[in-house]
Amino acid sequence: MTAGRAVPALLLSGVLLSAPAQAAEPAAYQAGEERPGGTTSQPVTQLRAAFSTPSATLTLEQKLDFLVGKSLFEKLWVASPSSTTASDGLGPLFNARACAGCHLHNGRGHPPESADENSVSLFLRLGREPDAGQRAQMTAGTLANAPDPQYGRQLQTFSVQNVPREGLLGVEYREVPLTLDDGSEISLRRPHYRILNPGYGTPASDMRLSPRLAPAMIGLGLLEAVPEAELAALEDPDDRDGDGISGRLNRVWSAREQRVMPGRFGWKAGNATLADQNDSALAGDIGIGNALFPSPWGDCTPSQHACLTAPHGNTEAQQDLEAADTVTDLVLYYSRHLAPPLRTDARDTQVLAGKAVFNRIGCAACHRPSLQTAADAPDGLGGQHIWPYSDLLLHDMGPGLADPLEEYRATGFEWRTPPLWGIGLAQRLDSRTGFLHDGRARTLLEAILWHGGEAKAAKQRVVSLGADERRQLISFLESL
Ligand code: HEC
Ligand code: HEC
Repeated sequence: MTAGRAVPALLLSGVLLSAPAQAAEPAAYQAGEERPGGTTSQPVTQLRAAFSTPSATLTLEQKLDFLVGKSLFEKLWVASPSSTTASDGLGPLFNARACAGCHLHNGRGHPPESADENSVSLFLRLGREPDAGQRAQMTAGTLANAPDPQYGRQLQTFSVQNVPREGLLGVEYREVPLTLDDGSEISLRRPHYRILNPGYGTPASDMRLSPRLAPAMIGLGLLEAVPEAELAALEDPDDRDGDGISGRLNRVWSAREQRVMPGRFGWKAGNATLADQNDSALAGDIGIGNALFPSPWGDCTPSQHACLTAPHGNTEAQQDLEAADTVTDLVLYYSRHLAPPLRTDARDTQVLAGKAVFNRIGCAACHRPSLQTAADAPDGLGGQHIWPYSDLLLHDMGPGLADPLEEYRATGFEWRTPPLWGIGLAQRLDSRTGFLHDGRARTLLEAILWHGGEAKAAKQRVVSLGADERRQLISFLESL
């Protein structure tokens, strides 16, 4: 793994650029860095559509598939029985009626804004302490975690008629003040989650809750196209290079490929392929059975009787499922081809100075600037030099971000390095959104200050930065 390296001062016409005291020397511009998705990248012409543009490499005909996929991603599923059999099968328990209900404008979700708002795009994954057999399966990569016998794997906050909902997500924040070395006062909000109005009895006192915010949908086909070997080469589980950072891949079961594979998607890299991630969302989040996850009852548990006897939406026209392969294939196509937006100010001096800070203080050790996709990936995804700012590896992020739910081999402390491409547009697309796996961070600086564990040293360096360098670092992140 490459540690963050100091970038040499930039020499212009032989004269060292003079910068204000404390401010960093700009790093060199690197060819292509303004195109995070390589030649698939698209300019932002309309802010609303910043994350909704098809890869620039698609042909006209391929764009049509993309558009049909888009309509399915945005489709509102309805409860059965219904006259529109191609769109029914919702629930019985669900978190939203459409993919786009959580991935708003293909951007990230947001935490509830008030105590009465039913949280949609931030939900709770649930589990219990695994027994020895379950733990062995989790380590082997064949079981995600031990579901709660009553509530299953996820708290569904909606339900169809005559089926009680599982409950509501309750979150309370406590402000924790922090003073940076230059005297600036910051406040971090520490969340506390619980289940409100439980519909199926008092939740077990040892139930494990893991809040998850819907992430942005850009560049996912490119991340899927990075060869396994390239990711495996980044692993350093025993920290042999002694930089304090010991990333490792999650190893997870792929229902699509029927084997254990490196995890790439989700906050704990719990899904290996986009098909697995999408189709498990269709079943678990919306309650629509499909070929990979065929139960029409989604996340209903054996003890949820009304749920298991509710009408389902399986029809012959849909291969005796609620959604046939034609549906999931088009959603897959769509999810592979949402282009990362072009950066407009990658050559800005302030931004390049922030990049130098980012590299120097060790952010790039996990938020790895660039990766290469496999040459043979189809539809323009192949042979691309991409700039996701992620290694897709799991890292111990310390107790501040930890929750008790494990996922395959990921402990409660470990999270996958999220890609940072497009992060500067997140709050411009939706001002309600926040950063980190549960949206607790209201600003990029707050997100950094929550870093601990393997990222503690990098965080500490941000605490010690002068105001100018800190501003440059944030300008760089905002430019991504
Ligand atoms: C109720 C809200 C919700 C709905 C509905 C939903 N998602 Fe998600 N999505 C999430 C959350 C939360 C995550 C992160 C999950 C995790 O970390 O385990 C996620 C993750 C993903 C990812 C992985 C992204 C990444 O960066 O790793 C993809 C792809 C995805 N969803 C696609 C879909 C598709 C396709 C649908 C519709 C079939 C869908 N989602 C419906 C909330 C939702
Ligand atoms: C040890 C690996 C590691 C290092 C070093 C690291 N990060 Fe992170 N970063 C992560 C992980 C993992 C997360 C997700 C944590 C979570 O959501 O709980 C994250 C989250 C973030 C986020 C929020 C992303 C989002 O989608 O909400 C930002 C911004 C960020 N990091 C910036 C930085 C900066 C700037 C630095 C350098 C000061 C840095 N990181 C250093 C691993 C790292």
